[in-house]
Amino acid sequence: MALPLILVSIPLLLLAHQLFQRLRFKLPPGPRAWPVVGNLYDIKPVRFRCFAEWSGAYGPIISVWFGSTLNVVVSSSALAKEVLKEHDQQLADRHRSRSAAKFSRDGQDLIWADYGPHYVKVRKVCTLELFSPKRLEALRPIREDEVTAMVESIFKDCTNPDNVGKSLPVKKYLGVVAFNNITRLAFGKRFVNAEGVMDEQGLEFKAIVSNGLKLGASLAMSEHIPWLRWMFPLEEEAFAKHGARRDRLTRAIMEEHTIARQKSGAKQHFVDALLTLKDKYDLSEDTIIGLLWDMITAGMDTTAISAEWAMAELIKNPRVQQKAQEELDRVVGFERVMTESDFSSLPYLQSVAKEALRLHPPTPLMLPHRSNTHVKIGGYDIPKGSNVHVNVWAIARDPAVWKSPLEFRPERFLEEDVDMKGHDFRLLPFGAGRRVCPGAQLGINLVASMLGHLLHHFVWTPPQGMKPEEIDMSENPGLVTYMRTPLQAVATPRLPSELYKRVPYEM
Ligand code: HEM
Repeated sequence: MALPLILVSIPLLLLAHQLFQRLRFKLPPGPRAWPVVGNLYDIKPVRFRCFAEWSGAYGPIISVWFGSTLNVVVSSSALAKEVLKEHDQQLADRHRSRSAAKFSRDGQDLIWADYGPHYVKVRKVCTLELFSPKRLEALRPIREDEVTAMVESIFKDCTNPDNVGKSLPVKKYLGVVAFNNITRLAFGKRFVNAEGVMDEQGLEFKAIVSNGLKLGASLAMSEHIPWLRWMFPLEEEAFAKHGARRDRLTRAIMEEHTIARQKSGAKQHFVDALLTLKDKYDLSEDTIIGLLWDMITAGMDTTAISAEWAMAELIKNPRVQQKAQEELDRVVGFERVMTESDFSSLPYLQSVAKEALRLHPPTPLMLPHRSNTHVKIGGYDIPKGSNVHVNVWAIARDPAVWKSPLEFRPERFLEEDVDMKGHDFRLLPFGAGRRVCPGAQLGINLVASMLGHLLHHFVWTPPQGMKPEEIDMSENPGLVTYMRTPLQAVATPRLPSELYKRVPYEM
């Protein structure tokens, strides 16, 4: 008798709560929400496109109900400024799904931490220590090693007599750079040897990453309808096993670093930095492990995605590709390869990277923020506990603030200097305010370096029989936005063959 009563009364209570909120507050307009499920069944898989469409109908600030949770989406530069500058502190918490809560030990890391003393402390470690300009520079040889290894690998594949004229899967090469760069930076480990064979620890690392994705995805629907959760119980045991496996691997790596440090002093990798700073900042082991894995989660896919979209645009727009190559030839020439010290003399290349991040931000809705108090945005009420998303994809294509927004035209940034690290609210691929991406400069350097090398070393064309305009520019659904159809392209070398060698660097 009691169970059916509970089953009926929970949804009724939630419904009453939803109705109460709507009557009590002046919430932003939006598509009609159904009882219990809200708009969950109306949201199309590529969410940022769907939200942009709804904004076209209801205005630049909309309410979208994920079950009984209010999600507010803003899609104009003025409202983004309200969210990320004027009300930044009140909107700096995070919504943690059940899996995010498990993975982060309830926000002991940075990405999933609410705004508060723990967050401020860990963020300080990131700003002052991990991502300081000095450390970024010290880790540069890793990035240059990895991009030159990529060039060598593409050269080998495209000059292989079996492959002449055949197209290559671009993402494969970019993914390897992103993977090696981030594992070396965070863990001080290149899990892959010169022949491309992954060691045992690397295989374990990969298995943990893919198991984490699987566990996260398995909960998706029941996340938003609390009273349905009993039907989708959290697999406590699977999460515990996953956490233990992740901790075991990380601890083993930390142990190796501790021994090496005693012998030959501290290195620049994040794991060494965090172990050295443990006492100074009073960092728990959970926080150190959480931070290291945050870097993997946030820094791996994002850079590879940005470079893949940029390459697609460069193949669709041969004029831009050629202009970037002319700049590289003029500045770098034909007798050496590009390095990051060339960046300041390569404004067009930098504009190409920026234009790609404008049209194709890898996290088009950033990461959702959560309100820790009641706020007003655009004249509407945002009750405490609502999630707020900024549709940076839509803002970067808004004809009210961009001329010919859909055109891939890097020149726009030579004509007008537009900041992309959180100071200009028209261009926010890294977010802005307190939670702005701490890895922004690192991400920009890596993307620009990958593009510079790809363009200096090769001419890129569509696969035989495909016209540039036929490249599929649609997106995969998900929090990060890969191309739906992975880019295939033909690479033709354009420099003397002795310049296609990896420049290895042990560190
Ligand atoms: C092109 C590359 C990248 C893009 C476009 C990007 C974008 C973003 C965005 C939009 C956010 C959310 C900001 C917010 O919540 O308001 C974020 C957060 C974050 N990113 Fe990046 N990111 C990139 C590369 C990286 C790299 C390379 C790292 C580290 C190695 C990194 C580490 C982080 C961390 C730790 C956070 C969480 C910050 C917080 O919650 O306070 N990102 N990033």
